[in-house]
Amino acid sequence: MILLDGKATAAAIRAEIKDRVQALEKTHGRTPGLAVILVGEDPASQVYVRMKEKGCAETGIRSLPHRPEASISQDALMDLIRELNADDSVDGILLQLPLPKGLDSQACLNLIDPGKDVDGFHPINVGKLALGLPGYRSCTPAGIIELLKRFDIKTSGKKAVVLGRSNIVGKPMALMLIEYGDQGNASTTIVHSRTPLEDQKAFCQEADIVIAAVGQPLHVKGDWIKEGAVVVDVGIHRSDDGLVGDCDFAAMKDKCSAITPVPGGVGPMTIAQLLLNTMQAYEDHVGA
Ligand code: GUN
Repeated sequence: MILLDGKATAAAIRAEIKDRVQALEKTHGRTPGLAVILVGEDPASQVYVRMKEKGCAETGIRSLPHRPEASISQDALMDLIRELNADDSVDGILLQLPLPKGLDSQACLNLIDPGKDVDGFHPINVGKLALGLPGYRSCTPAGIIELLKRFDIKTSGKKAVVLGRSNIVGKPMALMLIEYGDQGNASTTIVHSRTPLEDQKAFCQEADIVIAAVGQPLHVKGDWIKEGAVVVDVGIHRSDDGLVGDCDFAAMKDKCSAITPVPGGVGPMTIAQLLLNTMQAYEDHVGA
């Protein structure tokens, strides 16, 4: 069994980015800039944002923190986004989700300049993904594709099941798995909360690749997984036994040909992909 070590892979990506930032700064006279908007004080979001800013610091990307209070008005938040859109020193804009109650996140995402939308949430970028055109792609599924690529896991012609249909993970993941390419070309099924459990199990039992993004601890059982399957676990949950994923790792690890650990699998790759997307935005902006 191959452990798909996202922590080590993300560290390697950060080292590559750091070298590239240093080289490009010499020619272009500035480093990449990522504006990071965190509204309010949601503790989980604070942890994620801290990790994203740490990734920036380590690679030489300038993170530009914006921390409006939860009481900010929709208009004032939209004005901040307009300001960042117009600021030439800002290459990427990240609006951490979820927003506090009362704020319309889709209206904010729609306002972000698609050329600075390093989270890949703007409808233009989602549309480009659907059409197979180049554009910014949601960091978790794009990070998973990058992880599979770096471990030389090919999905072409294989059966894939994605559990979950969120706009951030499940839907874009399925679109990426049906794109052309070695880490695409998969016959892909999405199952979700309205798929009867016995059907979820049956689809998974047929699958060569299982990507779990349901947000339920230990949802995917050991006997759901076929011998030799590749399992990618997007979930992370606190439990009495420490951190667990959406999949019962212990019950399936010996059957899998490859599996991501929790923690240290998908999480670090999401952040690495955000840094890659920010580099892409910077290179487009400076003409590198
Ligand atoms: N909330 C949960 N996941 C994400 C993500 O990938 N990006 C942002 N901005 N917010 C999130």
